[in-house]
Amino acid sequence: APSLNPAVLALDWLLGSWESDEPGEGSFPTIPPFRYSEMLQFTHVGQPVINFTFNAFHAESKKPMHRECGFIRLQPGTNRVAFIIAQNSGLVEIEEGELTGQQVTLQTHALARTSFSKEPHVQQISREFRLRGDGRLEQTVSMATSNQPLMQHLHITYHRSS
Ligand code: HEM
Repeated sequence: APSLNPAVLALDWLLGSWESDEPGEGSFPTIPPFRYSEMLQFTHVGQPVINFTFNAFHAESKKPMHRECGFIRLQPGTNRVAFIIAQNSGLVEIEEGELTGQQVTLQTHALARTSFSKEPHVQQISREFRLRGDGRLEQTVSMATSNQPLMQHLHITYHRSS
């Protein structure tokens, strides 16, 4: 396997596969609360980029639900990080923010959707990944839509599965 490109060394704590321990918690003012499981993979091929896929499933039926994939880049010489994301819902997005130690905080920088995507439309996402002291990874996602202000949609923790 190629060695990790030094340009993304500061993200090495994300690399590998992660699986939710307990079901993640989904919420939003307009929908009933729900639970889900999720598998994350962060890989690299030696480029100055991390590749990722996030696959979510219904907590009980295991039916595939939300999916995202994309790439992570760091602005050289800075702690500025960009996630380039495609979602199965028809949304594509660039989120940018800061890498501080083993924590990434992100905000939507650019967003587009299919011409026929249903309402309400996502307007803004803010997201945080954090590696906790106990080795678990935590993700929190908030969003604003065309009819709701920025509110939490997702909270989940993962353990390393490889
Ligand atoms: C609903 C966006 C991730 C499960 C929604 C809605 C939006 C949305 C806009 C409709 C809210 C409304 O009707 O007011 C997003 C975005 C995500 C994301 C932008 C990622 C950044 C996930 C994940 C799951 C999930 C990982 C896990 C299974 C659901 C469910 C609903 C929902 C169950 C309610 C039923 C439905 O509208 O399909 N989401 N979502 N979402 N989301 Fe997400």
